[in-house]
Amino acid sequence: MTEGAPELEQLLERVVAGGHVPKHIAIIMDGNGRWAGERGLPRFMGHREGMKSVRRAVTGCLEMDVQHVTLYAFSKENWSRPPDEIAALMRLLSEYVDRERKALAEKGVRVRVIGDRARLSPAALQAVESIEGATAGEDTLVLNLAISYGSRDEILSAARSLARRCVAGEIDPDDIDEADFASALYTTGSPDPDLLIRTSGEMRVSNFLLWQIAYSEIHVTECLWPDFSERDLYEAVLDYQRRERRFGRVTR
Ligand code: FPP
Repeated sequence: MTEGAPELEQLLERVVAGGHVPKHIAIIMDGNGRWAGERGLPRFMGHREGMKSVRRAVTGCLEMDVQHVTLYAFSKENWSRPPDEIAALMRLLSEYVDRERKALAEKGVRVRVIGDRARLSPAALQAVESIEGATAGEDTLVLNLAISYGSRDEILSAARSLARRCVAGEIDPDDIDEADFASALYTTGSPDPDLLIRTSGEMRVSNFLLWQIAYSEIHVTECLWPDFSERDLYEAVLDYQRRERRFGRVTR
């Protein structure tokens, strides 16, 4: 645990005692720019601080025995940001990989990068391949890092790959079911998120995991991402545990 406070341990105990810990948590990490702006710092400093929250979120997931976590680190839409901010975010990705690769592998974290890699710079691509390679054999926690990611793109790419298989005569279009479609998405192998967290108070899903969050519980917190702590993560899970998940069924 990165924070040693006894209250944090008690919170974790409450989460574990709550029984149904989510198998998969997805997080829209938002508010880095505002965090920096409030302090008169360049936006880049917000992203840098946000990297520490990534570390805390992964640690918290390991503590709770969550099996999959998906973090929205860079959207397809983010390519339209100023070039210096994009360059800074890509440098942070390489820095994250250099700093965390060994520790993540030791903790049993398998990192998978989901998104359109064709747009990544050679250095960013090398970072992605190096962390995926170093953690490929791990299975305690799957960390999906969404980089250059857009959910509509992902859905289109799944539709194209299934269409190609139909044209090749490998499958019959009428036989395609939800499981086939889910297997063609970047997130194949991870179950749908039970819980979607968004920081900074915005009530949007921003082209993130649109297929996969069909039945996810959504927790929005005003907290800006660089301030997001293990405590906030545990509070989100406690909130999730208070929900009644009905998947469209009548239960009383
Ligand atoms: C949204 O905040 C955040 C991002 C676009 C980038 C997220 C990146 C990190 C947390 C650090 C890098 C992480 C890894 C794994 C390398 P925003 O800039 O849109 O904030 P704003 O809405 O306040 O402007």
